[in-house]
Amino acid sequence: MKIRAAVLEEFGRPLEVQELDLAEPKAGEVLVRLVACGVCHTDLYSASGADPSGYAPTVLGHEGAGVVEWIGEGVTSLEPGDHVVTLFSPQCRECVHCRSDRTNLCLAIREQQNKGYLPDGTARLSIGGEPVRHFMGTSTFAEYTVMPEIALARVRKDAPLEAACLFACGLTTGLGAAMFTAKVEAGSTCVVFGAGMVGLGAVIGCRLAGAERIVCVDLSPDRLSLAKHHGATETMVGGPDTVAAIVESTGGFGADYTFEATGNVQWMRQAVESARMGWGLCTVAGVAGRGETLDVVPRYLITGRRIAGSSFGGVKGRDGVPVLVERWLAGEIDVESFISHRLTLDEVNRGFELMEAQDGIRSVIRFAD
Ligand code: CU
Ligand code: ZN
Repeated sequence: MKIRAAVLEEFGRPLEVQELDLAEPKAGEVLVRLVACGVCHTDLYSASGADPSGYAPTVLGHEGAGVVEWIGEGVTSLEPGDHVVTLFSPQCRECVHCRSDRTNLCLAIREQQNKGYLPDGTARLSIGGEPVRHFMGTSTFAEYTVMPEIALARVRKDAPLEAACLFACGLTTGLGAAMFTAKVEAGSTCVVFGAGMVGLGAVIGCRLAGAERIVCVDLSPDRLSLAKHHGATETMVGGPDTVAAIVESTGGFGADYTFEATGNVQWMRQAVESARMGWGLCTVAGVAGRGETLDVVPRYLITGRRIAGSSFGGVKGRDGVPVLVERWLAGEIDVESFISHRLTLDEVNRGFELMEAQDGIRSVIRFAD
């Protein structure tokens, strides 16, 4: 079929919305009609060429939500009409990692997905017979996409897809970092570094876990007031004295849980040093630049602090995303407030500009209903 999609032809150039061919789903694959898609930093990062594992041409986009239109042979967990959120982090339920409750990093399709192909090593997207790769296995800056069944989470049909798409990436990453990676305990003190999509998700996760104090650190007063709206009990403008201020306000010990959601390795170090002596856990959810390293004074670890990393919030997507969506629909999470701009597919590059200008939390592309 013919579809319109935003193609990254060349690194460092604006995306070009054009007509492509999309082949029908093969065995284990599903055709999804996109209804909404968030514009995320990872898309921009890849488009810039800064990511050495990036590839082109490709259709970007990975925060999608839509409706199942057609299923390939052997697909049993989805049927046409189902509403789905796309998962760059799949869940096959069979590999050694899926069978363990200690990780969400499914191994089933990693290798081909990292290269931009569907699990059988080929692409369904093409232009004039030349293959176009599937970014993050999702390629959701498109009217339609073909994805593996194991990379789609079915959600309630009454969940507005325009906001549901935010569960495809940053929001779930933040929520999960607090709820599943750190497993924040009720009554604890938490510090969240960064009040972007991931950091705000972590603030909400801490609140849902019953944290008593939630301190959010950022540079932007606007973002900090949004953090308050979502449950931060205190806010702090970041700077060189942040660690000292946190240690001081916790009786000289530091926080039970800290979260890093900026990708800035200086802030990561502060997050480690703000964690409490004895049992403080620092969870790193921000993605640092290629080649950057985190400096940690070993004494911080010897004296009982721990550091954990969290990808997609430790959430096993097909099981976990529908549960988080339930909590949104129950009124526990204000997802709509994250949508700062609504764009058409043709305005996708404007989404990147808004992100670079740090204007708002999320731009969402709306496809024709
Ligand atoms: Cu993302
Ligand atoms: Zn798996």
